[in-house]
Amino acid sequence: MFRPVIYADADASELGVSYGRVANDLPDPKSVVPLLKQNGITMVRIYDANSTVLNALANTGIKVTVMVPNENLTAAATNPSYVQQWVRDNVKAYYPATLINGVAVGNEVFDSRPDLTQQLVRAMTNVQAALAKLGLADAVKVTSPVGFSAVTNSSPPSSARFRDDIQSVMTRMIQFLQQTGSYLAMNPYPFFAHAEDPQSIPLDYALGNYEPGVVDKNTGLVYHSILDAMMDATYYAVENLMGQPGKKRTMGAGSNNGHVETRWTETGWSSGGEVRRGGKPRGGRSSVATGVQCQPATVANARAYTNYVINRVRSGKTGTPRCPDAQMDVYIFALFNENQKGVDSDDAERYFGLFHPNKTKVYEFDFIHGGASQTPKTWCVANAAVGDDRLQAAMDYACGNGADCGAIQPGERCFEPNTKDAHASHAFNSYYQRKFHAIGACDFAGAASVVYQQPSKL
Ligand SMILES: *[C@@H]1O[C@H](CO)[C@@H](O)[C@H](O)[C@H]1NC(C)=O
Ligand SMILES: *[C@@H]1O[C@H](CO)[C@@H](O)[C@H](O)[C@H]1NC(C)=O
Ligand SMILES: *[C@@H]1O[C@H](CO)[C@@H](O)[C@H](O)[C@H]1NC(C)=O
Repeated sequence: MFRPVIYADADASELGVSYGRVANDLPDPKSVVPLLKQNGITMVRIYDANSTVLNALANTGIKVTVMVPNENLTAAATNPSYVQQWVRDNVKAYYPATLINGVAVGNEVFDSRPDLTQQLVRAMTNVQAALAKLGLADAVKVTSPVGFSAVTNSSPPSSARFRDDIQSVMTRMIQFLQQTGSYLAMNPYPFFAHAEDPQSIPLDYALGNYEPGVVDKNTGLVYHSILDAMMDATYYAVENLMGQPGKKRTMGAGSNNGHVETRWTETGWSSGGEVRRGGKPRGGRSSVATGVQCQPATVANARAYTNYVINRVRSGKTGTPRCPDAQMDVYIFALFNENQKGVDSDDAERYFGLFHPNKTKVYEFDFIHGGASQTPKTWCVANAAVGDDRLQAAMDYACGNGADCGAIQPGERCFEPNTKDAHASHAFNSYYQRKFHAIGACDFAGAASVVYQQPSKL
């Protein structure tokens, strides 16, 4: 279906960004507003209720979700007068000049602060009551973003359930969301799914265009995108929990037949560094030998994934195999690269940004039109036939002109296989991707050429 102008369409899915600020080099919030406006970004999610940010967003028409940080959740669960004050100071004080439309109560509590699990729904209920007292219950929805690790048995999607240890809290949360007309907030990351298990989750599946697709053996439904599989796993987990098996319904935003609306409050792809969780590198060098790309966090992959998500929403193709009519409200994580996330400067957590701190784009994307900017999938590889001397000369040029050659140094993650051909291919491809596949960026006087299938030597 063709949707010409989507801003005016109340039923259309909407795109936002997560404006994380775990960094010491970000631009002043006032100067971020023109950046949001120029790029057609109409919704943001912030991870606190910072007054400088909320004032900067006043009178912009941009919708904002604020957050009660995890560290304040106990107070929110146990002290209604604390919550009243919090809502007065952090929502009422700015609304409606600043279009606050949501309060996230905590973030990924089951992963980050499992000790707070039992307090979560009480805190949400208190925030809801405080909003209602101030007449804001219709305008401002209360939710709590859930990490995708809450869903277990997600392959195939039809067998998905919420984890045993959180079934009772999820039941209470979903009842709360249904009663208040709010939405389930989930944070799916195909990036981490692929990085953790590149053998079972091929890059193309994570980037949304896997052929021939993965068949759910229970339903016969075919998945070409793990994001679809994650969205459907979420729908099945809700259905499984709330016990309405076999009942046909339309799921997703706008559904009103006893189901809960779902929004995707974070998804994104890192453009650099290495994946480490719990301080351990994941993926990495061992996968080179098996023909899997040694590093999923590249500018080209981040660009492909972000544009895939934008294009899904902008083209109106928001349904999934299980729920063909579902809407898809998504917040891209994140607005900026954040230099204080993760464990060190080579941690992929720092490179999820759409923008560098100096407000230039990390890669091309277009929130307004979507469409054309998805990168054709091409790679640049060495022509071993030109001989080692020419490869070395070309590699020296690429490494001296912007290619990321750190990873092919001795002991680093892409050092193996230690051949001139493999090292040169890595350097040439890095240069080519950073030049956004420019014509002529993969030649090096004949030492390199473009290929259309991912080569095993990268
Ligand atoms: C809010 O953000 C501004 C701008 O980044 C910062 O200077 C200020 O310290 C923040 N306030 C709080 C309470 O964190
Ligand atoms: C939230 O908790 C932090 C850490 O305990 C505290 O410094 C801060 O004042 C609390 N914020 C509010 C609004 O109560
Ligand atoms: C912006 O920052 C990025 C990352 O540090 C850098 O590569 C780029 O050259 C900078 N652009 C401008 C115009 O300063």
